Amino acid sequence: MLDGFSFREGSLHVGEVAAAAVANAVGTPTYVYSADAIRAAYRRLDKAFAPLKVRTHYAVKACANLEVCRLLRSLGAGMDVVSGGELERAWLAGTPLEEIAFAGVGKTDEEIRGALDGRFSPLAGTPLVEGRDLTHRGAVGMFNVESSSELERIADIATELGVRARVCIRVNPDVDAKTHEYITTGKEQNKFGIDLPRVRLLFDAYRDHDSVEIIGLHFHIGSLVPRVEPYVRSVEVLNRLIDELQGAGHGIRLLDLGGGWPAAYQEGECPPIEAFADALIPLLEERVREGLQVVTEPGRVLLANAGVLLTRVQHVKLGRSKRFVICDGGMHSLIRPALYQAYHFVWPVDVPQGLAPGTRAETQDFEGLEPSDVVGPICESSDFLARDRQLPPVGRGEVLAVFSAGAYGMSMASNYNDHGRPAEVLVDGDRVRVVNERQTLETMLETERRPREVAIQTLC
Ligand code: LLP
Repeated sequence: MLDGFSFREGSLHVGEVAAAAVANAVGTPTYVYSADAIRAAYRRLDKAFAPLKVRTHYAVKACANLEVCRLLRSLGAGMDVVSGGELERAWLAGTPLEEIAFAGVGKTDEEIRGALDGRFSPLAGTPLVEGRDLTHRGAVGMFNVESSSELERIADIATELGVRARVCIRVNPDVDAKTHEYITTGKEQNKFGIDLPRVRLLFDAYRDHDSVEIIGLHFHIGSLVPRVEPYVRSVEVLNRLIDELQGAGHGIRLLDLGGGWPAAYQEGECPPIEAFADALIPLLEERVREGLQVVTEPGRVLLANAGVLLTRVQHVKLGRSKRFVICDGGMHSLIRPALYQAYHFVWPVDVPQGLAPGTRAETQDFEGLEPSDVVGPICESSDFLARDRQLPPVGRGEVLAVFSAGAYGMSMASNYNDHGRPAEVLVDGDRVRVVNERQTLETMLETERRPREVAIQTLC
């Protein structure tokens, strides 16, 4: 079906394990990841970009689970983080600070401090770091800087701490990634990156700075980019800029191509990762031979198809033209359908043999299906996981798998309507581990237990 997932005698298996058995043991809604699928996706990406000796920084935002980060780390990944929280996760997962890149448009002073000096980590003094030394962990490998204001803050804080900050400038190449408008980031009207004339000024302004070293350039044009051409155009823009900056005496050691590489939510929907790599290799191989380090920040292409969301049917309700399959998972567990009208293939985990798909496309030829909306319990009409689908008949208590949910699933889950966040399970062959317990109401209410008076000084 997909790497790590297969129907065997009508029963969906993750690795060697029946999905229904996981749902029964752990409850629902639950994210289930296949370790084999993550490994396969990582190795495939690594191989595709091998001629460029690419360093891979996993975009933690796609799926921040500690064990998932540990698995990717064990395969050799560095980490791309966008908050102090993600930075600490990456470090807890075993990533040395120098292999972490800190991106994001709104870094706070506290986050910058923690990224430069472990003594200012939000984990300092907590039981999470018992026995680990924060004081000597050093500074992040690089900050991907999004504005001159941010660079100023990094420079000031690095000076104050007496350390040197390595920085990459995120360029806004003004290229249309042709993806959903909410996840387009490389156009001039987006809040991301710095326009070309300002990039040149920054390089000049920080030329011999004591506390900041600008080591390279970064771009990230969007996510789920469905075509190769916007990457080619962006690299062409950046190549011209590198030539220009080098001509002015600036050293450019590193080029970060960002993430955005697509995963197929439907069969054959986008070019394979090799198509992207093959188009970019000729544009960069000469520079790599001359010493340029190329970096990528993949998230979705590694995780999306390595995870499913298991959800249990609570009620089936007949409408006039279709039925509503009402589940315990919804927009609070997986918000992508509500937020981006995203498509996720949904299928019951146990079906008669004749209705067990070999691929996601195959179900179109099945007979006996019923028009259905798969929806959640949330009080909004945007609360759907799948709309206008043809599904096998299902009844109360049955478990459905929402496919391609490994990226931006759990990491965007919320407590809306006071639901706890789902559990997470990692399956490796026949080994099943709960790698994140289901969130309980008790922990959700913890921060509201004791209202605290705050003394505010007023002027009059
Ligand atoms: N690098 C930067 C600077 C990013 O902003 C992102 C994603 C990535 C790398 C990783 O992109 P990927 O390889 O995963 O496409 N919530 C949306 C996706 C938002 C992506 C945000 N930035 C979704 O569910 O489709």
